[in-house]
Amino acid sequence: MLATSSSSSSSTAISLHPLTNYNASATPSLNPSSLSFSSSYSYLSPLSFRLHSSKTHLRIAPKKGLRVSCSTNEPLKVMISGAPASGKGTQCELIVQKFGLVHISTGDLLRAEVSSGTEIGNKAKEFMNYGRLVPDEIVTAMVTVRLSRQDAKEKGWLLDGYPRSFAQAQSLEELNIRPDIYIVLDVPDEILIDRCVGRRLDPVTGKIYHLTNFPPESEEIKARLITRTDDTEEKVKSRLEIYKQNAAAISSTYSSITNKIDGNRPKEIIFKDIDSLLSQLLKDKTAKSVKPVLQTESRLGQASSNQEKWRGIPTRLNNIPHSREIRNYFYDDVLQATQRAVNDGRTRLKVEINIPELNPEMDVYRIGTLMELVRVIALSFADDGKRVKVCVQGSMGEGALAGMPLQLAGTRKILEFMDWGNYGAMGTFIKIGSIGAKEVYEEDDLFILVAPQNAVGNCIIDDLRAMTDAAGKRPVILINPRLKDLPGSSGIMQTMGRDKRLEYAASFESCYFFRLLYYAGTQYPIMGAIRMTYPYDYELYKRVDEPSGREKYVPLSTFKERPTIDEINDAFLGKPRNKDKKASGIWGFLSGVF
Ligand code: AP5
Repeated sequence: MLATSSSSSSSTAISLHPLTNYNASATPSLNPSSLSFSSSYSYLSPLSFRLHSSKTHLRIAPKKGLRVSCSTNEPLKVMISGAPASGKGTQCELIVQKFGLVHISTGDLLRAEVSSGTEIGNKAKEFMNYGRLVPDEIVTAMVTVRLSRQDAKEKGWLLDGYPRSFAQAQSLEELNIRPDIYIVLDVPDEILIDRCVGRRLDPVTGKIYHLTNFPPESEEIKARLITRTDDTEEKVKSRLEIYKQNAAAISSTYSSITNKIDGNRPKEIIFKDIDSLLSQLLKDKTAKSVKPVLQTESRLGQASSNQEKWRGIPTRLNNIPHSREIRNYFYDDVLQATQRAVNDGRTRLKVEINIPELNPEMDVYRIGTLMELVRVIALSFADDGKRVKVCVQGSMGEGALAGMPLQLAGTRKILEFMDWGNYGAMGTFIKIGSIGAKEVYEEDDLFILVAPQNAVGNCIIDDLRAMTDAAGKRPVILINPRLKDLPGSSGIMQTMGRDKRLEYAASFESCYFFRLLYYAGTQYPIMGAIRMTYPYDYELYKRVDEPSGREKYVPLSTFKERPTIDEINDAFLGKPRNKDKKASGIWGFLSGVF
């Protein structure tokens, strides 16, 4: 269900709407505690907001300039995907031979369970026999346990046949398991059926043959070959259908690291492509791991390369929850802008980022995304040797009227429980407090205020102002402040402290701004976006669908100040700047948005 914006009655409010294909039930439901495997594996630890966990940075102390990356050569982590019989297993044999990765094939693991007659095997058998997917909790547990074994950690891994659904992909994301590359083998449907029906397996060597494409080398081998029970034409069709239903959702998780390869060529030629991709990746990893780097520079360097990858604005912002890649893009984007502004001596800064997950007016709002963003910024400044105070407003009002905005309920606790790394930053370089003058200590260097806003019957402005005054010349960064009028649950507009709030908000300089654009009163499709990162101009983008079905954001224009409705309309219409005439017709849509 989609949310509607209730703040649109304010003439200055921007009415942003969430996205259409959100499926709240798509949220993964992996519950490690329910798994029957040993929970001693680190991958099965509860979901945490870990920032550096996948890297082996060894940080001497959270002091300026003392960040040494001591990663040893990190092994390759590869995912291979494709329709049934697209050649995954065949290519995996070649990849393992050359790169020595640990091959983890969920199909093979499941078939082994079936042939050993284990409880898992018996459960899985009925699904496999019908060409259906085995339930997520069985497969996910198998994969995560296997991935956590020492050999996979040391030699690297090659995951084949997993994830096969959006929920499986999200399970890995939540466990912080992410490949370096996602290879998709692309083969036309008609070829796939023939490949399956002609496939034979050697139970002794595990080698994959095909009666005509790759016949066995001898009569002896031929005599012992077996056929998979799910390799009938009917079952292949069903498997193919299931693959197609899930493919797009999975690839959205890995869009920035996806490499599609034509799998309808001789296997050696296909492998040549894969070989050169993996060799290059290995080279890049080795180069990175030997270079001592400043932690902050490293994060910022990674940020630039993230942005390079997107070449503009991340696409698929309609897909909720956003992929880790998309979240990282925005965290990095905000971080860079904020760092530049603080380094330039700016002290009153405002970050306004309204991607769907950070728009509290939508039912796709995710507090975890806001917290992750705050953590990235705080840790980065702490890495720079600054003492950062992260503040959330406390409960306001008294007696029966005491309360806080729903959006912030529980935020402080979440911040306290979050994983702030193992390097002692929390409690020394990062502290958590409430908004108010009494939280400002002499040792604090910088303040991050998380989504300050008024609550019904109470106004946050006095605490904010007092805190800012006490901070003096030290930077204060407001993350997604909501200081405009807010409606109460009765629908009555909250106007308490309005002038003071607006004046206070205006005294902060925008160092980051991102907003999607829709037709007024609609929620779909996304028409474009506005982005500003300090010290650069406001960039206006138009979203365009390409014939291939992909989308992209095309830069339309830039503006020194935040563009007005008319300026945006004119840019969309391709009109020259500063036209007197007001925009009209269908492109008047933005008038309602701003
Ligand atoms: P799985 O074993 O993973 O089956 P699959 O994905 O359908 O893939 P295949 O093993 O059929 O094909 P492949 O791409 O490896 O092709 P291959 O190299 O063998 O899964 C089986 C079942 O387990 C699923 O249906 C499901 O029930 C369950 N399952 C697995 N993972 C799951 C998960 N994550 N969640 C839930 N359930 C899960 O090649 C095929 C044939 O083509 C061979 O004969 C080969 O010789 C030939 N060939 C290969 N390359 C070429 C080429 N370039 N040119 C000509 N012929 C070629």
